[in-house]
Amino acid sequence: MNSEQPVLKARAIHKAFYNPCVVPILKGVDLTIMRGETLAIMGRSGEGKSTLLQILGTLENACSGYLEIANQTVTSFNKSKIRNKNLAFIFQSFHLLEDYTALENVLMPASIARNKISKGSPAYKRACELLEKVGLNSRMHFNTKLLSGGEKQRVAIARALCNDPDIIFADEPSGNLDKQTSQYIHELLLSFARNQNKTLVLVTHDTDLASMCNRRFRLCEGVLVAE
Ligand SMILES: Nc1ncnc2c1ncn2[C@@H]1O[C@H](COP(=O)(O)OP(=O)(O)OP(=O)(O)O)[C@@H](O)[C@H]1O
Ligand SMILES: [Mg+2]
Repeated sequence: MNSEQPVLKARAIHKAFYNPCVVPILKGVDLTIMRGETLAIMGRSGEGKSTLLQILGTLENACSGYLEIANQTVTSFNKSKIRNKNLAFIFQSFHLLEDYTALENVLMPASIARNKISKGSPAYKRACELLEKVGLNSRMHFNTKLLSGGEKQRVAIARALCNDPDIIFADEPSGNLDKQTSQYIHELLLSFARNQNKTLVLVTHDTDLASMCNRRFRLCEGVLVAE
């Protein structure tokens, strides 16, 4: 894809929750993201940042609006395919499969995409390389429940890159980590995104992390405002 082309276009995204009562959250979010951009979304707790990220990442449906990812209009028919092929996620609470090894976790997206993951396959080699790059060479065959928080998030970063996605969504990626580990994770995430020309969309309360991104937005009263 040409770097001048948007990798994501969202128009007039509206979202409300109806249970137990009507809660309007997003009131017309417009956003265009170019390939290779790093973008931070900030805002008060409860403004709807995670909800927006989930909608942009096709994990949640908007009530109305238009979403285009990698030149494809997202519909209920193609969204899981787009999600598997083009998108990756990093969450505050890691969302790893704790009874599987670090390597098995990193290989999971390739396995879901039905790529070969046996020893010697391209996916296996890439997963090993990624785990090496995040400094977990010696932990590859550990079950992830045995890893520290910072190590778990490094596995999640390696997993996010395994299928070579167009966009990585990260929701408070260092929310559960101490300051020093957070800083390390931020630098790792941003250098990976930049070196591999990945688009990174992250939600954070951390102004230092936001300041490392190309663009910053604040979600306020249901709309995105550029900072
Ligand atoms: N399934 C749901 N049903 C009803 N209300 C919901 C649901 N999911 C989220 N909400 C409400 O939507 C609002 C926005 O939630 P969201 O998690 O997107 O906020 P946030 O900006 O990510 O907050 P934080 O910074 O605390 O993570 C909250 O007030 C929450 O209570
Ligand atoms: Mg949130």
